[in-house]
Order: sequence, then C-alpha cells, then structure tokens
Amino acid sequence: MISPTIMLRRPSSVYRYFAPAVVLVMVVYWYILTPARIHIATGALTSTAAQLQHMHVANYHTPGRIGQIPVGLQHTKGKPHKGHKTQRPHPIEELVGKAQTTFNNLLARQTYSLNGTAAAYRERRGRHPPPGFDLWYKYAADNNVLIVEDFWDQIYDDLQPFWGVATQQLRHDTYNFHMKISVRNGSASTTSDWFWTQTWLEMIRKVEHMLPDMDIPLNAMDEPRMVVPWEDMREVLDRAGAASGTRDTRTKETNNVVTGYQQLDPDLSKDVAEPQDIVWETAGPYWDILRRGCDPESATRQVPSVTDFHEAPPIRHNYAQAHMQRGFVVNTTLASDICHQPDIQTLNGIFIEPLTISTTKKLFPLFGGSKLSVNNEILLPAPAYWRNDARFSIAADSRANSIAWEDKVNGSFWRGVATGGRNRPDNWRGFQRHRFVAMNNATALAAQGRSHNIDKSNELAAWVAASSDCAFVDLFCDTDSKVASACPYVDPHYAVAKGRPLSEQVVYKFLPDIDGNSFSGRYLAFLRSGSVPVKATVWREWHDQRLVAWKHYVPMDTRFSDWFGIMEFFVGRGGRHGRDDLAKRIAEDGGAWAERVLRKEDMQVYVLRLLLEYARVLDEKRERMGWVDDLQ
Ligand SMILES: *[C@@H]1O[C@H](CO)[C@@H](O)[C@H](O)[C@H]1NC(C)=O
Ligand SMILES: *[C@@H]1O[C@H](CO)[C@@H](O)[C@H](O)[C@H]1NC(C)=O
Ligand SMILES: *[C@@H]1O[C@H](CO)[C@@H](O)[C@H](O)[C@H]1NC(C)=O
Ligand SMILES: *[C@@H]1O[C@H](CO)[C@@H](O)[C@H](O)[C@H]1NC(C)=O
Ligand SMILES: *[C@@H]1O[C@H](CO)[C@@H](O)[C@H](O)[C@H]1NC(C)=O
Repeated sequence: MISPTIMLRRPSSVYRYFAPAVVLVMVVYWYILTPARIHIATGALTSTAAQLQHMHVANYHTPGRIGQIPVGLQHTKGKPHKGHKTQRPHPIEELVGKAQTTFNNLLARQTYSLNGTAAAYRERRGRHPPPGFDLWYKYAADNNVLIVEDFWDQIYDDLQPFWGVATQQLRHDTYNFHMKISVRNGSASTTSDWFWTQTWLEMIRKVEHMLPDMDIPLNAMDEPRMVVPWEDMREVLDRAGAASGTRDTRTKETNNVVTGYQQLDPDLSKDVAEPQDIVWETAGPYWDILRRGCDPESATRQVPSVTDFHEAPPIRHNYAQAHMQRGFVVNTTLASDICHQPDIQTLNGIFIEPLTISTTKKLFPLFGGSKLSVNNEILLPAPAYWRNDARFSIAADSRANSIAWEDKVNGSFWRGVATGGRNRPDNWRGFQRHRFVAMNNATALAAQGRSHNIDKSNELAAWVAASSDCAFVDLFCDTDSKVASACPYVDPHYAVAKGRPLSEQVVYKFLPDIDGNSFSGRYLAFLRSGSVPVKATVWREWHDQRLVAWKHYVPMDTRFSDWFGIMEFFVGRGGRHGRDDLAKRIAEDGGAWAERVLRKEDMQVYVLRLLLEYARVLDEKRERMGWVDDLQ
C-alpha cells in the first residue's frame, strides 16, 4: 500500500493526474461557490490554500482509504501501479461487470405462469397474494409485462407500516383527505381538477374495472409531506409484523381465507372513527423535520443541523464511503439514504430550503410521485412519466429517436432551470444544480486554477470545455425581476443559455440528470434516448427496483466528486482512450430495458398491484384475505 505521505512528497504518475483534479474540485467548491473573491484580493490566499490542503488531506487521503479515493482518475488504464504485479481493472469496469451479474440474477427470477407467480409472491412476501391476483396476472400477461416479483418491492416497503394501523382509522383518514381519488363500484373519480390529480386519475382509470372500493389521498406538491419519527415508526412496524400471524399460517392456510373485498359507502362519515386532525408543519429547518425519520444512532441524527448556508458547503467523502466502491457509487439505495450522510444537508436545495414545507408526523396513506428515504408516502408512477409533455418526453415520430450512437456528440450536455428549492443570496451555493453547473464551467476552472497556481489546470479546463456543455436556462431568482437573467447574486457566476428541447439534448452521448425541486421528470426520456443518463439523486421512485445501476444507467454520487472520473473513463482524456464501447452498451441496454419494463402498460400493472394491496390493508378482514385458488 502506498502511504499517503509518500505520495504527497513524491508524486507518482497516478498522483500527477489525480491531485490537480482533486484540488480543482475543491477550488470549485471552496472558491467559485464562496463569497470569498475578496479574501483572495486582500491576501488571504494562503489561508484558503491551507484550508484546501487541510480538506484535501482530511477528505481524500485518510490512511487506509487510498483505494477509495473519490475521483476515479488514479486508475489509469495501462499504467500499472509501481509494485503491483497484476493490475486490478478500473473500478467502473468492476461495477459494470457486477451489474451484469445482478441483472442476470434478476432475470433468472422471472416467472411465466399464474401459479409460478403466486409461488414467488408467497416466497418473497410471506403471505397470500391479495384477492384479484388472478385478474392482475392476466392483465399483466395480456399486456406482455415482464414479471419478476422484485419489481414490486417498493409497494411492500411503502405499505408495510399500515398493517400496524387500525383499518377504521385508515378508512377515516383516507376518506377525509381533501385531495383524493375515490373508487366505488369499479369507477374512479375525483373532485379536484389539479392537473396532477387528473393525470393520476387517467392512470387509475385504466384499471378501475378491476379495483375494489377505496379512497386514495394524493400529495400534489413537489415536496413529500410525511416524516413519521423513527421511534414511532419502529412501534408501528412492530405492530404490523405481529398483526397477521406466522409466515406459515399466512402462506399455507387455505381454509377461512376471505377471497373478496369490502364494499364502501359513497359516504363514509358514519363508518369512520373519531376525527383525528392532521397537523401540518409549515416552517423549517426542513432538515430537522427530515432527520427525525432516521435512527437516533445514525450520523444524521447525531451531527448537528447546519443553519448558516452562506459559505460554500464542505464536501465530506467519509460519509459517502458506505455506498461507494473505489470512488464510484456501488449501492444506489444506500446512496439516496440520507441517514448516514449528514453532510448532504448543505448539498441539495430540498435540504437547504424547499419551495414549500407542509409536513406531518402522522402516519396515514398518502400517495405521491417521489420521496426521500425518510418519507412515508406510497409511491405511484409520477405524472411526468405518464403525460407526453414536451418537457418530459420526446415525440414518438421525432428523428431524435433514431440517432446512431456513432453520430452522437462525444460529450455531456445539461440545460435546466436553477431549481432545487428557494435559492437566495445567502444559501444558493450548496444547491445541487448550481454546484454541478459550476463544476462544468471551463472558464471558471481555468481562471481559478491560474489564480491558485495549479499545474495542469488548463489541461483540465480544456478537457472540460471539450467534453461538457452545461448551463442554466433560467436562474429561478429570488427577486421580483421578470427578466430571467437578472439575478444579482449569481449573475457573476452563471450565464443564462437558451433552452434546448429534449430532442436536441439527446444528440449528446452523456446526459447528466440532476434533481430539481424533487426528482427529475426527464429521467425516463433520458433512459429511452439512446444516450447514457448519469444520474445523481436523493429521490426514490416507483421504478427503482427494476433498473440496475451501471447496466441501464450510470449512477453518480450527490457530491458529484465522481463526475470527472466517470467522464474520463468513458470519453478519455489527455490522449488516453475512453471506453466508448461500454458507454454505448449502457445506452443500448438502458434504452431497450425502458422499452421493456417502463412502458405505460408497466405503470398500469404496477398501479393495479399497488391498489389491490392497498385495498386489502384498508379492509376490516385484511388478515384473513388472500388469493388461494392455486392451492385448492
Ligand atoms: C354502487 O352500486 C350500488 C348498487 O348497484 C348502488 O347502490 C350505489 O349507489 C353505487 N355506488 C356508487 C358510488 O355509485
Ligand atoms: C444496499 O444497501 C442497503 C441498505 O443498507 C442494503 O439493504 C442492501 O442489501 C444493499 N444492496 C446491495 C446490493 O448490497
Ligand atoms: C462560467 O463562469 C464565469 C465566471 O467564472 C461566468 O462569467 C460564466 O457566465 C459562467 N458560464 C456559465 C455557462 O454559467
Ligand atoms: C472524446 O472527447 C474527449 C474529450 O474531448 C477526447 O479526449 C476523446 O479522444 C474523444 N473521443 C472520441 C472517440 O472522439
Ligand atoms: C396451477 O395450480 C392449479 C391448482 O393446483 C392446477 O390445477 C393447475 O394445473 C396449475 N397450473 C399450472 C399452469 O401449473
């Protein structure tokens, strides 16, 4: 093992490339994003440099962690480390190989018959499938849906807590929620004309004839709204686990199984329990609301909340270690979990200052399109994926759909609005889109490098200029100005570029996908585009279990410290060739998979499964309900 101190004294070929990049990344965060130009002018450069050096050591070169350096530049192809006889493959090659295995294992669990699917269900869920499972299966088969029981894991994570809540309470809470879709007598309706609600109604209407009666409360805000304290959730889950007997009775018992659903009155006000009002918190800090959803032992509960977002946020790679492997994301579920990474409270607009806060501690069924790891919403496919808006999809007849990989531009492209939350003069520096655009600004990189005497900064800047084109199309400024470009506090740092339709964006091979106010609605279009989505997100969505990172898309840490490493690996740098072949394969595999398992039909089948399960959990007789025709 090469010791960090030796590396610092005697730069190896590895370090020669790696160090300037690390320092430059730090410079971007520390300098471009700090209000500290004035420091430099007044001679505080040395202390800034000392701080950089400090962070450099603290965050990148902790002894024993050299193999997990967060920028992938050290693994130069064809240049074995001194003293190592055989070279370990580049970390991305390892991750791509591992993803193929994960994907093969997933496919190996595919089922092809009702009986086989029911057996896989009992095996994975530990209870009988819900009544109507045969209809669900037929609907899925008729729609040529690929069935792997894992694909519906999210449903069970989302619904499990409600087995610990009394059914009468659930019926009450869902019936009384102001924004809802109701199903009665096989027909879905709503009193709301909000376009998201209307979109969800359209989705649910596709399967309404197979649905039992239920009320479906909807969250029509961008932000998720429910964070049950971890301690309360623990109790609810204990009750839920205890509720329905042993696994054996739940999967083997065939006598006394109730095979139909309750019917609900159109008006439930007689049936329901005492009103229990939902209290909405409308004031932040939002991080304090969110972190109550974490285990008290977790880093996020232990590390104090940040209240001052004035300075550029420090990047703490030690908190990313758990979900990274040799500098790149290895576990995307964990990467989007906020409980082990308290530093991300300063790295994403949703944590710094969301547009709207309206959150409750109370557990009741609330459906939404995306959520954070600590939220308790039930996920539906987001309206953005259902509607054919130009903002979120490319028309089927567009020529953009048929551009060959070889004809695409060898580089990355991003355009978007400076969303993420409410950016202000004293908090914008940590916003994810601001950070990402700044990192890809070659002009700024070159200027900062020069002023810090960083060797090779021009090379990095030139490479970024050649391989990346990222800009805001609207600064989403916190002023009354109606002119998009007039935003005094960020104008010196960002230019406003012309927007480009998705059909022009997909001309580029690499499409970074950066969260906005919540999840990024263009993700599905990116997956289908024939280009490679490079996705950094803290959001959970309905489709997470059916997409395999490094097989169908490239995952990126929310700190973006792997970004240059990812691009260097795929496009090449400084005369070294990139793995264009692997990028092409990911683009093709992701596109084909999206056509196979992310179609509207797949969403419909997800919604039908979800709502059958949901109706069971609302049902008085839920513990005895099931579909057991295959066992009789
Ligand atoms: C459902 O059908 C029953 C009987 O056909 C009828 O009494 C009831 O009003 C209907 N409910 C709704 C919500 O239409
Ligand atoms: C990813 O992390 C989660 C949460 O810690 C864990 O349950 C899961 O097994 C991990 N997945 C893999 C593939 O290691
Ligand atoms: C890049 O940074 C410079 C300042 O360093 C700024 O003037 C320019 O507008 C930025 N470009 C973009 C595309 O944001
Ligand atoms: C792609 O772009 C990068 C960066 O400009 C360059 O180093 C590489 O040689 C290019 N690859 C191809 C195949 O053109
Ligand atoms: C499914 O199970 C039922 C009941 O055991 C049986 O009659 C039927 O033949 C099975 N179907 C298939 C396709 O295995």
